[in-house]
Parts: sequence; C-alpha cells; structure tokens
Amino acid sequence: MNPVKIGLLGLGTVGGGTATVLKRNAEEIARRAGRGIIVDYVATLEPERADELGLNDLRITQDAFDVVNDPDVSIVVELIGGYSPAKELVLQAIENGKHVVTANKALIAVHGNEIFAKAQEKGVMVAFEAAVAGGIPIIKALREGLAANNIQWLAGIINGTGNFILTEMRDKGRDFDDVLAEAQALGYAEADPTFDVEGIDAAHKLSILSSIAFGIPLQFEKTYTEGISKISRDDVTYASELGYNIKHLGIARRTEAGVEQRVHPTMIPKKRLIANVNGVMNAILVNGDAVGHTLYYGAGAGDEPTASAVVADIIDVVRVLTTDPENRVPHLAFQPDSLADTPILPIETIESAYYLRMCAENHSGVLAEVTKILGEGNISVEAIIQKEPESDQAKQVDIILLTHRVNEGDMNTAIQKIESLDVICGEIMRIRVESLD
Ligand code: HSE
Repeated sequence: MNPVKIGLLGLGTVGGGTATVLKRNAEEIARRAGRGIIVDYVATLEPERADELGLNDLRITQDAFDVVNDPDVSIVVELIGGYSPAKELVLQAIENGKHVVTANKALIAVHGNEIFAKAQEKGVMVAFEAAVAGGIPIIKALREGLAANNIQWLAGIINGTGNFILTEMRDKGRDFDDVLAEAQALGYAEADPTFDVEGIDAAHKLSILSSIAFGIPLQFEKTYTEGISKISRDDVTYASELGYNIKHLGIARRTEAGVEQRVHPTMIPKKRLIANVNGVMNAILVNGDAVGHTLYYGAGAGDEPTASAVVADIIDVVRVLTTDPENRVPHLAFQPDSLADTPILPIETIESAYYLRMCAENHSGVLAEVTKILGEGNISVEAIIQKEPESDQAKQVDIILLTHRVNEGDMNTAIQKIESLDVICGEIMRIRVESLD
C-alpha cells in the first residue's frame, strides 16, 4: 500500500519534534499503522529549519495554503498555533476533504464547535490529543478508556510553565520573572507568556477536558480564569507550613446545578500524589463513578513529548481512513446530537475552603474583629496563624486563616468587610483549598 502523505504546517518546537519522531520511528510507526507515513510537504517561514532537521527530501513552501490545497496531502498537521490563520487553514483543509491533526488548544477551545461541525459535515477527522497536557494521552483516556463512566470531576496541572514557576519559587526561592525567562528559553512558554501566567492556556485546555468529560459544547468563554502572578513566596512558604502545596489547577466538576469550570491557584494537601507533580510536568486526576480515581502524569510541553501525541493522532487517523464516519470516536466523546446544555456555573456559586492572608495592625483586638466578620457570615475557621512581627517595633503582621468549606459569594462578602476594617492594610490574598479526596 502507498504511504500516507502528511502536510506539516509549522516547523517550530512541536513541528520539528513531529518531523523528527516520524522519521526516526518510521519503521515501527508503519508496523502500527499498517502503512508508511511520510512528511511530504512542509509550510515554514524559516526554510533553513528543514536543513537543520535533516529534512532534505521534501517539498517546502512559505505559504501554508499551498499545503492545505495540495491534492497529494491526505492529512494536514497544524502546528502553527494561535487563532488566525490556523482557523482558516484548518477549515480550508476540511473543505478539501483532508483529515486534520492539531496541537492548537486555543483554536479548539475557541473555534472547536464550528470546526467539528464542519468536519462532521465533510466526514473527516480532526484529532487534537496534543492540545491538552502535551504527551499525556488524556483525550484518549477520557474519550475511550473511561467511556463507561459518569465522570464526576477532574482536576489537572495543565500548564507546564506555571508549574515550573511555582516549583522553582518553592524549592529554590527564585523570583517569578527569572523562572519565566528560563521557561521561555526552554520553549515551554506560549508566544505570549501572559497566556501561561494568567491562566488562559490552562483555561483553553480545561474547557476541552470539561467538554469531553461531561458531553457539553466547548465553552472557553465561561471558564473562570485566575493566574499565578499574585502568588508570593510568602504564600508558598505559609501553605507549606500548613501542610499544603500550591498548584495552578484546572478543575471541572459536575454538580446538580451545572458544571464548575475554573482555573486558579489551589492549595492541595501535600500527601496527594498530584501535589507532588513538579517542574514542567503535568498531571490530571479524574474521578469516574465506576473506576474511582485515576491519575495521568507526564511531560506537558516540549518538542518530542508533544510530538508523541501528534504522531499518535496521525497513526489513529491513518488506521481509520477507510472507516465510515459514524463508526469513529466522536470529536467531543459524545455523539454530536447528544451534547447536553448543562450550564457552566458562575464562580460565586461554587463551594470551597479558603486560605486568606492579610496584613494587619499589630495590636490586641484585631483578630477578634476579623473572626467576628467571619462568624457573622457563618464561615468556620479551621486554623489561624499570626506570624511573629519582624521586630518588637513592627507595626504590622501577617495573619493567615484557613476556613472550612463555604460558598464563594459569602466569602467575597466577608473579604470585602474585612478589607474595609481600619486595622487591615491593603488587599487580602485568597487561595482556594481543595482536598481532592
Ligand atoms: N505553554 C504551554 C505549557 C505549552 O507551559 O504548558 C504546552 O501546551
């Protein structure tokens, strides 16, 4: 049988990794797929990259539409990233009857509903394993391996850059900006690093996970998104003293009222496995009604780890090229006409325990004023730490409180009241606490 010809859009970190893995493992890949898979046509604005990667025997263009419109290309692999022109290229490829493999989480999270509808109409596949958690096969696990389950919730460390920053701050006392610069140099960070540190990248990935876990359309815009840029080294230290690690988590949870879909720094008990996922590594903890907890761990970014997922998708597509569209695994795990309209819940309605750090005047009665407000709001306190003042003359001290679970709206009201006290200086730092048990 003739080999399947791939058109590659982009030869950056992931594109280079994909070309390298396809070439290095060509023989083994052919044994798995049942036929050879070759990169035939590449679009890159840096043609010299092809020489660097030893890709001398293929066609190269600077116009990605040449690849998408080429009659010899059966599968278009989109590794450009971003919204545009990635969206136009993917839609054009589908229009031309080509299957698509993409690592583009932003594209799938924001335009996935439209792209999948078009793919459905044209009877082609759009595979996106690499869009979430790099090399971890979490899409396959959720869509196929856990298909028997009613998924209750999932919680994931799904941004390697953020996890790398938090780990280095905790273990080495390094500064935020310094670690971010290293993540950029290592090729982990997004082109716009605010996507990593402000949680947008994680929100893209979470909305994809939530959709395939619960059988709902993609709703990135409804994801509550909070980054890690306000976490201080003091928070990392205090959390540790209380028995917790701070992780930037994406959480999707099914409740009777709807679906929680939220990304924010979270304190997790140190004894949980996921609390010990460090550096650029990712992990996703999934709770299904039949299986209980399962945990998926691995490299969430980088050239060959991400290429591992891209190439697995290419092999999957090649295997089912001749299958009738209705017999393929649905893009969003559930049949398109069976997606539910379960609402995504506003953050004010969720319930969580909280860590609060506040700067307070160092004299008697301050703590009583704070706890009075919490008591009035029916917020029960689990632990209080008043840090030793830096000197006998110090006028201000840090107070750290850990609460039991409470409604977020009630907590917002209490925080506002406490911040308005004369004895409290500045804003209160709040971190949600999840036991994940
Ligand atoms: N910027 C992303 C991360 C790359 O740090 O996880 C992988 O999606």
